[in-house]
Amino acid sequence: MAAAAAAPAPPVIERKNIDLTQLKAAKVPIFFIVGGPGSGKGTQCEKIVAKYGFKHLSSGDLLRADVESGSSRGGQLKAMMEAGQLVPLTIVLDLIKEAMVKAVQDKSCNGFLIDGYPREVQQGIDFENEIQPSTLVIYFDVTDEKTLIERLLKRSQTSGRADDNMETISKRLQTFKAATAPVVDHYKNSGKLARIEANGTVDAIFIEVCKHIDNALQK
Ligand code: AP5
Ligand code: MG
Repeated sequence: MAAAAAAPAPPVIERKNIDLTQLKAAKVPIFFIVGGPGSGKGTQCEKIVAKYGFKHLSSGDLLRADVESGSSRGGQLKAMMEAGQLVPLTIVLDLIKEAMVKAVQDKSCNGFLIDGYPREVQQGIDFENEIQPSTLVIYFDVTDEKTLIERLLKRSQTSGRADDNMETISKRLQTFKAATAPVVDHYKNSGKLARIEANGTVDAIFIEVCKHIDNALQK
């Protein structure tokens, strides 16, 4: 009898012992930035950085850098990202922690934009337990999937991103609906959600973003 095909090996998860003392002591505001693929998370974060000087950390960028670094788990992460799936929670959280610790060593760090995180409810719970509660969760809501698809296909002409193709975009959208929609509900219930309609122009959306950030910083 032929042997059954072996299941792909799970990714190597090496938990790191990251010293968070300095990060916790800094107590700078933390903004989670969530939204579907192509909802404008990165675009708006660039504008927020220019105005407020916060440190922008994109979970997707951190993962792509890890893949590029040739780490032992890079091949497995790449395969998951190209399949539009979420990578294991602990890998993302450790990458974010490391980048945050590095950023607070620069005394000018006055806040964080954590872009593309949390993507599932447990990610938010773990982050807030292990680091610090977020100040606000900014959710870019694009109501029509067609808008997201058009933006990403346009970006694919220049982005070089392996996940900017129709097949992976469909899977990313499915993952977003299944895993991230509950995140929105979770923070809505805790009163920390700023839902921003993100169908309009970049500048019109940014005006709304600033209102929410200014309001949160005044509290
Ligand atoms: P990630 O890199 O975060 O990808 P994503 O969430 O799919 O989002 P994008 O970066 O593609 O879009 P964006 O919202 O930043 O939009 P952008 O501003 O670029 O994650 C990639 C993968 O990594 C995931 O699929 C997963 O596998 C893994 N991963 C990441 N985080 C993880 C986590 N926490 N846990 C587990 N796995 C994780 O805009 C898109 C385009 O639209 C641009 O060309 C832009 O110019 C244009 N645009 C933006 N705004 C507008 C506007 N208002 N009008 C017209 N065009 C616009
Ligand atoms: Mg992005």
